[in-house]
Amino acid sequence: MSLPPGFLDELRSRLSLTQVVGRKVMWDARKSNQGKGDMWAPCPFHQEKTASFHVDDRKGFYYCFGCHAKGDAISFVKETENVGFMEAVEILAREAGMQMPARDPRAQEKADRRSQLAEVMEQAVQFFRLQLNTGAAGPARDYLARRGLNGAALERWEIGFAPAGWQGLWDHLRGKGVAEELILGAGLAKASSKGGKPYDVFRNRIMFPIRDARGRAIAFGGRAMDPDDNAKYLNSPETELFDKGRNLFNHGPAREAAGKGAPLIVAEGYMDVIALDSGGFPAAVAPLGTAVTEHQLQLFWRIAPEPVIALDGDTAGLRAAMKLIDLALPLLEAGQSLRFAILPEGQDPDDLIRGDGPAAVQRLIDNATPMVRLLWQRETEGKSFDSPERKAALDKALRDKIKLIRDPSIRSHYGQEINALRRDLFAPKRKARGPWVAGRKPAQTPLASTKTSLIAASGDAAETRMREAVILATLIATPAAITQFEAGIERMECADPDFRLIRDIILRQGAQAPDSLREEIIGQGGGAALENLFALRHVAINPSVRSPGDVERASMTLGEELAKLEAHRGWEAEIADAVEDLAHVADEALTWRLGQAAEARNAAMRSQHQDRTEYDTGDNGARISRDERDAFAALLDQIGHSKRQQ
Ligand code: UTP
Ligand code: MN
Repeated sequence: MSLPPGFLDELRSRLSLTQVVGRKVMWDARKSNQGKGDMWAPCPFHQEKTASFHVDDRKGFYYCFGCHAKGDAISFVKETENVGFMEAVEILAREAGMQMPARDPRAQEKADRRSQLAEVMEQAVQFFRLQLNTGAAGPARDYLARRGLNGAALERWEIGFAPAGWQGLWDHLRGKGVAEELILGAGLAKASSKGGKPYDVFRNRIMFPIRDARGRAIAFGGRAMDPDDNAKYLNSPETELFDKGRNLFNHGPAREAAGKGAPLIVAEGYMDVIALDSGGFPAAVAPLGTAVTEHQLQLFWRIAPEPVIALDGDTAGLRAAMKLIDLALPLLEAGQSLRFAILPEGQDPDDLIRGDGPAAVQRLIDNATPMVRLLWQRETEGKSFDSPERKAALDKALRDKIKLIRDPSIRSHYGQEINALRRDLFAPKRKARGPWVAGRKPAQTPLASTKTSLIAASGDAAETRMREAVILATLIATPAAITQFEAGIERMECADPDFRLIRDIILRQGAQAPDSLREEIIGQGGGAALENLFALRHVAINPSVRSPGDVERASMTLGEELAKLEAHRGWEAEIADAVEDLAHVADEALTWRLGQAAEARNAAMRSQHQDRTEYDTGDNGARISRDERDAFAALLDQIGHSKRQQ
């Protein structure tokens, strides 16, 4: 299924961008002219006091004169809600009262059934919330107050109370005409084995609703107040709505907050997430009563490139960290890693915030340990390496771990880092042992990676690099061609630091005589980088590079190469989005995205054929297209698989 032609235009024309944006900004009344649809506000995308953010309601575009953010209603929702394209379209279509295009009948049935179940869950949320105000909930309210939850927090987290009887919720829902089968299907009641009435799953518990990324109620966590209760938390069973391993507590709000720059923190418990949020860390999530799964790990990375995992500082916490590391190693990609914040022994984030305040949490985040060091620590701490056999055993253990990393560049970085630590440990006269072991962590520069660099670096790094090389060399040969392409050149990823150096100098210098540009690059230490660049075979034989000063030819090359880089980025982003959607359901959004991805992929393939005639990509080109095909096949496979499972 795809969106019918004209759907997006219709959507854009029905929406008022002023209204969409108005929810996130305060209009500057003096500067704005509502009648003309000419609106100004302080920019929601960067910090400022003046109003340099402009909305042209008639054209449906916004532009910030400060940070140059620009786009339309869809991109605004994407950015501010931190959602994918299709999700943004859904949100806006709902708002504009437009029906999303029909899906195939079976998918439609499923979706209907799910929304019925979600509706029942919603009624349960309301029921539990009302119960919290009854006399019977006195002890529950006292308990919550003791734990520091005020009225606003109860409201924010929609906390409720399940009464002690066997059929409180059952009778309530049946009284409202809800079908028995739906109550059972939502996991709210269980059939009696003695042939009696079904009974409520949650009894005499404080209820935490669990919502999916789109805000639908899908499950509950129910906490016992009695410390002797044999299950402190009881979670909803898995249902058609609730897959424990593919959801997160506080997923939607955390994703939105992370989109605005809050650090993503992964805690163990619901109460931790609640405490973190109230302490000023709104991008906090928790798994749902099980160890973190691979799916959840992927969800973290869709939210932020380097989530901070908050762990209890006891052996169980460390064991959990190690399991997570094993899960993460094969999945590491550029700009996609983990850090670990190890809490003082016996404390969880909730205790820490209440004991020492939010600043203590901030310190923990700032000093979070990179994954590689935790790995090292596990293999070395408390052990001695006083014999060749022991050293060899350590080397083997570390090598086995590093081998798990699939990404070759990350693997080599891990290898280097481990080697450095190892040299330090085995050095004959060492002052301190490893910096981490000595409790003195080296300065940690935060990853400069962004979501886009993650995407660019992950897939076809080789192809991207090749194009970047041609672009840079063309610009050096013919600097005058830069004028129309500055924006595109700025957007280039340049994962290679040498490329970045050259790119930045080119951007700073602008149109220049070729000689002075080269001199500038050499003057700034880029001599070797320059030499390496022109030594690349596909650069050396490129016609634009070989005809310096030919502005027309250079412009054609630049236009084409930049467009292909953009197309490629777009394609990868779609695939990434679609993969995330697998975590929910294979619904129409997914189908649409795949359609788009397939199209973009075909376009990319087509341009690759052209490339072959343009330059001699040889093995490199072949390898790239195989990767592309494999990634795509794997994705389709996964979808087929997840559909079969449903
Ligand atoms: P914790 O025992 O750390 O709970 O379990 P907590 O969140 O700190 O809760 P408080 O502070 O004691 O109230 C962490 C998570 O493990 C799951 C829950 O998801 C909980 O939030 N859990 C724990 C269960 O599912 N069942 C249990 O019996 C205990
Ligand atoms: Mn706790």
